[in-house]
Amino acid sequence: MTDTLTILGLESSCDDTAAAVVRHTVGEPAQILANVVFGQNDLHAAFGGIVPEIAARAHAEKLDIVVEQALTKANMAFQDLDAIAVTAGPGLIGGVLSGVMCAKGLAAGSGLPLLGINHLAGHALTPRLTDNVEYPYLMLLVSGGHCQFLIVKGVDDFTRLGGTIDDAPGEAFDKVARMLGLPQPGGPAVESEAAKGDPARFKFPRPLLNRPGCDMSFSGLKTAVLRERNQLIDQHGGLRTQDRADLCAGFQAAVVDVFAEKTRRAMIEYLLLPPDTPRFALAGGVAANQAIRLGLETVIHDLGAQIIAPPLALCTDNGAMIAWAGIERFRAGMFDDMTLAARPRWPLDSIRPAMLGSGKKGAKA
Ligand code: KG4
Ligand code: ZN
Repeated sequence: MTDTLTILGLESSCDDTAAAVVRHTVGEPAQILANVVFGQNDLHAAFGGIVPEIAARAHAEKLDIVVEQALTKANMAFQDLDAIAVTAGPGLIGGVLSGVMCAKGLAAGSGLPLLGINHLAGHALTPRLTDNVEYPYLMLLVSGGHCQFLIVKGVDDFTRLGGTIDDAPGEAFDKVARMLGLPQPGGPAVESEAAKGDPARFKFPRPLLNRPGCDMSFSGLKTAVLRERNQLIDQHGGLRTQDRADLCAGFQAAVVDVFAEKTRRAMIEYLLLPPDTPRFALAGGVAANQAIRLGLETVIHDLGAQIIAPPLALCTDNGAMIAWAGIERFRAGMFDDMTLAARPRWPLDSIRPAMLGSGKKGAKA
């Protein structure tokens, strides 16, 4: 097996068209030689959410361009690569298909091996790319499309301890922002409003805390915010600046409490393994939220574990995580061929039942 691998990774499962080149030599830290992400926020802004058909067309248009940019940045040609890795699901099927077809074309043209990557595995393996974390570690994947606790035991060995049964938290942040007239993506806007608000003014629910286990729910919480908002508008003819800040602060405090308690439960389950060096890793756009990070840090440190939060650009959707997962699968001899299929649903943990609900990325995997 080659000691050094250089892999091109493609990602197009949601609203980012991305390509990256990652190189790894056994025993050394991985190098991200290029990591190009082309976001589609502008294309969907007018619709208040991602329009799958627009996303798929934009991916089809941009994939060639991001690949070319990534190779130029890495100063490489196809003959310098060892393989091509591509997100083959889960996600919006049009985007995933665009990526898989592009990767197949590149693999056929260059003669390079093809590796189909589960998008969630890309996120889940990122702490090994950034921090060389050893298996098994606990991970919370929390974004606009995903929310789950996973014990990551190997390149293709994941145990899901729980996740959202309805909305993903990022979706809830985005919807709360929309109902309060704040810009999209809603997470950063709600966070900055929350900093000016009183988290105790409104008594929002902490869904599923009274039930055992690590499953979460954010849809009822979002509706509770909507109800308060409507009452305030009825009373005052509109939302006052302080009302908006207090609603954001109350909503965010509820999310922080839910994450803190569910993370404590997931950690206790993980610690039973027991791992040699307990580690908890975060990924996904919502991991950017400082209040959530702080809440989680307290829980993790109290339990004597280490918390790993990769840089934000590698927490959100990107090609480097796909290239890295490709490196791991290449080393494990897990190759694909031209029969590789695009899968809108693809649970990481094939034993536990698939999650219910559907987010902006389509059905939760
Ligand atoms: O991982 P990501 O870039 O894309 C996917 O959803 O796959 O996550 C985007 C989500 C959006 O819903 C956005 O509102 C949320 O992450 N987000 C945040 C913050 N920054 C981004 N949510 C809460 N607080 C933030 N600071
Ligand atoms: Zn993602």
